Order: sequence, then C-alpha cells, then structure tokens
Amino acid sequence: MVKKPRQERFLAVYPGSFDPVTNGHLDIIRRAAAACPRLIVAVVANPNKRPLFTLPERVALLRDVCKGLDVEVDSFEGLLVDYVRRRRASLIIKGLRIVSDFEYEFSMALLNRRLRGGVDTMFLPASLEYAYISSSSVREVFSLGGNIADFVPPAVLRAMRRRAGPTRTGKRR
Ligand code: PNS
Repeated sequence: MVKKPRQERFLAVYPGSFDPVTNGHLDIIRRAAAACPRLIVAVVANPNKRPLFTLPERVALLRDVCKGLDVEVDSFEGLLVDYVRRRRASLIIKGLRIVSDFEYEFSMALLNRRLRGGVDTMFLPASLEYAYISSSSVREVFSLGGNIADFVPPAVLRAMRRRAGPTRTGKRR
C-alpha cells in the first residue's frame, strides 16, 4: 500500500505580494520563523496586478534579505489554499498592522478555512515601529522622491534606485 504523505502540522506559509519586501515583512518573517519549525515565504504571482518588480525579482530580493534565516522562499499562482495543500502545510501566517487589516484578514481567514478545511490562519501583530509601513506606501513615497531607507532592507533600496535610474536633479533618493 502506498502511504499518502501526511499534512505537516508545523509547516507554515507566509504569503504576500512583497512588491517590494519591507522591513515590516522582514520583522514578521523573523518572528514567524522563530515560532514555526518550518516556514515558507510564498510570493503570489498576482496575475491581476502590474507589480513594480517581476515575480522572479521579488523572489530574488526575498531570498537575498532572508539570507541566514531558516526559511524557504517560493512562489505560487492561483488560490492560496491550493498552494498550502500542495505543500502539505497546515497554517497560514498573516501580519496585522492596523484595525482595518484585521477586518479584511479575518474574513480572508474564514474564507480560506471554508475553502479548505484543516487550513488555519495565525496572525502576528506588527511591531510598533513597522505598523505604518506597507509596500504601496513605500512605492509611493519613493516615486515622489521621499526617503525610504528606514522602511526597506538595503538590498531593496538598491533595487529601487536601479529601477528608477538617476533623478532629474542627479540627487540620490
Ligand atoms: O501582500 P498582499 O498583497 O496583501 O498579499 C495578498 C495575498 C497574496 C495573501 C492574497 O492576495 C492571496 O491569498 N492571493 C492568492 C489568491 C487567493 O487565494 N485568493 C482568495 C482570497 S481572496
């Protein structure tokens, strides 16, 4: 008899667009990795969005900033719960920054559990110093010439500067 591989109780997935990965994401990754015996950081392909960084670029940046952490970086397309099932994981990790995150993420957690029984979601509250940082605000501040050095890892800052090219005034952002 062929034994089916069992779902791994301790394999957790932290999904996101990571466009780009911020210090807030990195904080959640570090804390989730300390709490879960195995963690996969899973980058969604987002076929409906036009991301700043391509999927391979987002994966490469995450691998770079997660160097030294005991996590796997992967990507997926389609439903998150299908990916979680394919990987035989049982837990989704989400970071919560503000109350409105909770409203949205709570309904997502219920929806995902309804779509796939046995897959549960655990929330980690953002650390206070990162509670106001999001990928979209980082992209906007950067595009308007603001300083994002405190919000993203240095590798991401370099990648964003390369992507933007020289500024009109020749100044570095
Ligand atoms: O970093 P983000 O953009 O907030 O991450 C959102 C993500 C990737 C967690 C969410 O978009 C997702 O789960 N996408 C996969 C598609 C899916 O399963 N959709 C069902 C819930 S609407």
